[in-house]
Amino acid sequence: MDKVLIANWKMHPLTEREAIALAKKCDAANVVICPPFPFLGAVEKTVTKAKIGAQDTFWEEKGAYTGEVSPAMLKKMGVSHVIIGHSERRRYLGETDEMVNKKVRAAIHSGLTPILCVGEPLAVRKKGISAAKRFVAAQLRKDLQSVHGKMIVVYEPIWAISAGLGTGNPDNPQNVAVMVKFMRDIVGKKLGKATPLLYGGSATSGNLGRLITGNFLDGALVGGASLNAKEFRSMIQIARNKR
Ligand code: PGA
Repeated sequence: MDKVLIANWKMHPLTEREAIALAKKCDAANVVICPPFPFLGAVEKTVTKAKIGAQDTFWEEKGAYTGEVSPAMLKKMGVSHVIIGHSERRRYLGETDEMVNKKVRAAIHSGLTPILCVGEPLAVRKKGISAAKRFVAAQLRKDLQSVHGKMIVVYEPIWAISAGLGTGNPDNPQNVAVMVKFMRDIVGKKLGKATPLLYGGSATSGNLGRLITGNFLDGALVGGASLNAKEFRSMIQIARNKR
């Protein structure tokens, strides 16, 4: 299976011009670029090979929901993917598993591919890998309730993220392998064995090869490193060679 790289730009860059310039340099097959909402249209018009993802969506199609953007709106503007349940939204915006579940179902209903993020905080990981497994299994059970359809699932230990809530230290490939194997059993039973499973958290050109070696990972969700075109292009090359 081709390895997938998802560029989660978070709340960067500041201007549309910068967004277009970055997108041009990172335009490649098997890449999903997720810019902030205001730049989705411009980036969608810029790229010819990459797919476009939003960083969030709402669960209703339209209505009196100030500030929200529906999956149907995203779909109509050429967006194909949407990140749902990122730990920053769970933490800063108070998103619950129930909300995440509604968003995943609404996205699939509108023909978008959800990129569901799950992963444990540092306090849980400190208790050991079994505690992390229990935490992630509970998230998956709630987030995937009554979900049927094509999607991507990302194991993103919150503490491994490079900025904000994380420590900047990636998880080591052995632990990632254990967690992803565990998740693959759950996700495979629920959504089918072909469901791509990705890793996220301080992924760079320096560790990507080790992280996605073998068949246990189908790619990576990349935050900070996706804002540096040269670095991200190296990662695209590494992912290609690991196909
Ligand atoms: P990072 O972010 O690659 O900067 O750690 C990943 C993410 O939070 O999506």
